Amino acid sequence: MPLLAVRPQCWQSTGSGGAGGRGQGLALGTDGEGNGAGGWDGWGSSPILTALLLAFQLTMADLPTSLLPARGPDPGIGVGTWAWGNQFLWGYDPAQDAGLQATFRRAVQLGLCFFDTADSYGTGRWNGRSETLLGEWAAGLSPEQRGSLTVATKLAPFPWRLGRRGFARAFQTSRNRLQGQLQRVQLHWSTARYAPWQEGPLLDGLADLVLAGEVAELGLSNVGPRRLRALHRRLAARGVPITSLQVQFSLLAPQPLEPGGVLEVCRELGIALLAYSPLALGLLGRSQQSSASMPPGPRGVLFRRLEPGLVPLREALARIGAPHGAPPAAVALNWCRAHGAMPIPGLRTTRQAEVAAGALAWGLSEEERAELDRLALALPRRMPANPFQSD
Ligand SMILES: NC(=O)c1ccc[n+]([C@@H]2O[C@H](COP(=O)([O-])OP(=O)(O)OC[C@H]3O[C@@H](n4cnc5c(N)ncnc54)[C@H](OP(=O)(O)O)[C@@H]3O)[C@@H](O)[C@H]2O)c1
Repeated sequence: MPLLAVRPQCWQSTGSGGAGGRGQGLALGTDGEGNGAGGWDGWGSSPILTALLLAFQLTMADLPTSLLPARGPDPGIGVGTWAWGNQFLWGYDPAQDAGLQATFRRAVQLGLCFFDTADSYGTGRWNGRSETLLGEWAAGLSPEQRGSLTVATKLAPFPWRLGRRGFARAFQTSRNRLQGQLQRVQLHWSTARYAPWQEGPLLDGLADLVLAGEVAELGLSNVGPRRLRALHRRLAARGVPITSLQVQFSLLAPQPLEPGGVLEVCRELGIALLAYSPLALGLLGRSQQSSASMPPGPRGVLFRRLEPGLVPLREALARIGAPHGAPPAAVALNWCRAHGAMPIPGLRTTRQAEVAAGALAWGLSEEERAELDRLALALPRRMPANPFQSD
């Protein structure tokens, strides 16, 4: 069972269990130790890793012809804060802070009160910037608003972080940057593929923090279905629940829906699924007309590669959103929710916060969800998979 009580100011879920059951609103994403090869969102610190990730393409071979029906609780939407400090991919500059703070405040005002960050967010000298900004801005809220927040950070299992106390210093550093506003600590990625011995003791250390009352909740990230079951067993033996798992999930990355995939396992084990990069780094929020102007850098490279073949999907997103006055981004977020996952879109403007909050007012019909499933499966290309995700 989740350890935290439902927070008063948040958008409330109608369901029980999972992200929705925790009554979370929309989440924002951010980047501490930007010098390591991170998870998918650690790429801001390594151009080489970025190139590798972009080259890493999924095949369509193993995908099912039909996807699982949507079931379970109605999840909220959170906020991703990866861009708040990341120069390489997101072009962060401290001159953006006023706009980002306005985005933060607007999100909270609208009931989006789940914020996702990480100790590896923030490039170079801006290492830890996302946590620092979140901490400062949360401290400026009224006590009531502050009490409504769920802030979840991710600790990176860098190779030098070893053993049961391997995260102890990093946890303190993150908590300090966040000025104590830290409700959930997450393992940023699985080390199963390259150092399978590392993550067990690190997770035991995170469980120690929960059992000692240092932090309320524990979550995972970039863990696949098989590993998830094993880690769930390990933690359950100590009476520590896994509150959430975050993985890449969007119309351009629908793999979690596969039979036996993480969506199914999360539902079975009562773990909330958080959908990261739900807008495919913003590609799903763009119209066909705007495709002439590409964002600079690696995002532009990726978008150029994925744009061909998006026309039918974009037409459906526009048509489905029209009766609700909702732009494509809102429809793409609600597709995640229709599958029981809580999207955590990266937000950088007040308008984006308003669009995300607006999506909570309505939902997809079964037919609309099924149509989008079909279109997603038919896409010629997908987002690169996170190479750190375990099986
Ligand atoms: N665990 C992990 O390994 C991992 C990996 C990646 C991400 N994450 C988390 O997930 C969060 C979200 O993922 P993401 O930031 O990678 O990508 P995303 O949410 O798919 O895309 C974010 C971008 O979408 C665009 N956008 C947002 N709202 C929009 C709207 N209403 N209309 C049009 N465009 C809109 C914005 O781009 P512009 O500002 O350029 O318009 C925004 O920066 C991250 O911030 C982070 O917290 C975790």
